[in-house]
Amino acid sequence: MELKILLLPGDGIGVEVTREAEKVLARVASTYGHRLSVTKGLLGGIAIRETGSPFPDATRKLALQADATLMGAVGLPEFDNAPPEKRPERGLLAIRQTLQVYANLRPVRAYRALLDSSPLKNQLVEGSDLIIVRELTGGLYYGTPRGISGHGIEERAVNTMVYTRAEIERVAHVAFQLARKRKKKVTSIDKSNVLENSQLWRRVVTEIGASYPDVKLDHLLVDNCAMQLVLNPKRFDVILTENLFGDILSDEAAVLAGSIGMLPSASIGDRRPSGAWVGLYEPVHGSAPDIAGQNKANPLGAIGSVAAMLEYTFGLIDEAKSVTNAIEEVLDSGQVTADLKPVAVATTTEVGDAVCAALSRRVVPA
Ligand code: IPM
Ligand code: MG
Repeated sequence: MELKILLLPGDGIGVEVTREAEKVLARVASTYGHRLSVTKGLLGGIAIRETGSPFPDATRKLALQADATLMGAVGLPEFDNAPPEKRPERGLLAIRQTLQVYANLRPVRAYRALLDSSPLKNQLVEGSDLIIVRELTGGLYYGTPRGISGHGIEERAVNTMVYTRAEIERVAHVAFQLARKRKKKVTSIDKSNVLENSQLWRRVVTEIGASYPDVKLDHLLVDNCAMQLVLNPKRFDVILTENLFGDILSDEAAVLAGSIGMLPSASIGDRRPSGAWVGLYEPVHGSAPDIAGQNKANPLGAIGSVAAMLEYTFGLIDEAKSVTNAIEEVLDSGQVTADLKPVAVATTTEVGDAVCAALSRRVVPA
């Protein structure tokens, strides 16, 4: 099979973690006999520096042509005070919108080898296995009107939380279909005691849920969900929520996995005529400028995103499984980065190499 990938390393540790992810991808391709063609592009702060725009036209074209895009991270402190359209994060929002990847899947698992890496008690974390389905192309991130206007005491800022029925329906279908392959439970998160937006969300999700009678649906308010995630994470299977709530809850849920560096994500839109998902794959963590360039970052979120890409966009289930198995083997071996263990740590490169080595040991070439 031909795998046409656009690689957007982005900023900070994005560069280091995608380097390891690309290595793993190349190892999978050579082992299983796939033809890999990787094109590189600019996104985020580096793109602003080189072209003036966080999402240059050239990147837009490449993203629309690729089978799948693998992204590192965006964000650099030098742009903290830049106007909104000159911020690296705008590049990320723009590519999500261009590809119309409206469902962001963020699986969170407590790996046995990492139980001690979580600040939560082992017995609480052990066995947690959930996936957050975050709506990704609507809500407060994109709603208009938006902006800051006026001066002095009259200065004001506006953002708009808007969802159409159609936007809620399509992401709800993704969550229910996913639940069917898991423990058949969807928990929808909103703030319907205060927000009309959430009232529509809850009503539409309930309606869609009626066409999945085999999936159990419950609803939680977002503040309560934030607490339940650390009180009783095992109550969750699929968490379905809107854009901003999903952003916040996924960072919180990362505590179950031991480190946010562990979390992969897959952002998917509608299926192409071939049946493949249009996909943007990215680790959940940010650009972490404080440790950038030091070969310290955890590449497993990015490598896990490669597994998600193999599964969702290319339907290569065995290949995806071999990557997730290799990740687990490396975790069991204790070769992990500093975010997971205070001592006896491995570098970003060493972890990437260890995953490649584990892959080669396991796979019997066809
Ligand atoms: C994420 C990130 C992004 C988001 C930022 C970098 C714009 O936090 O993917 O979770 O808020 O979506
Ligand atoms: Mg986030």
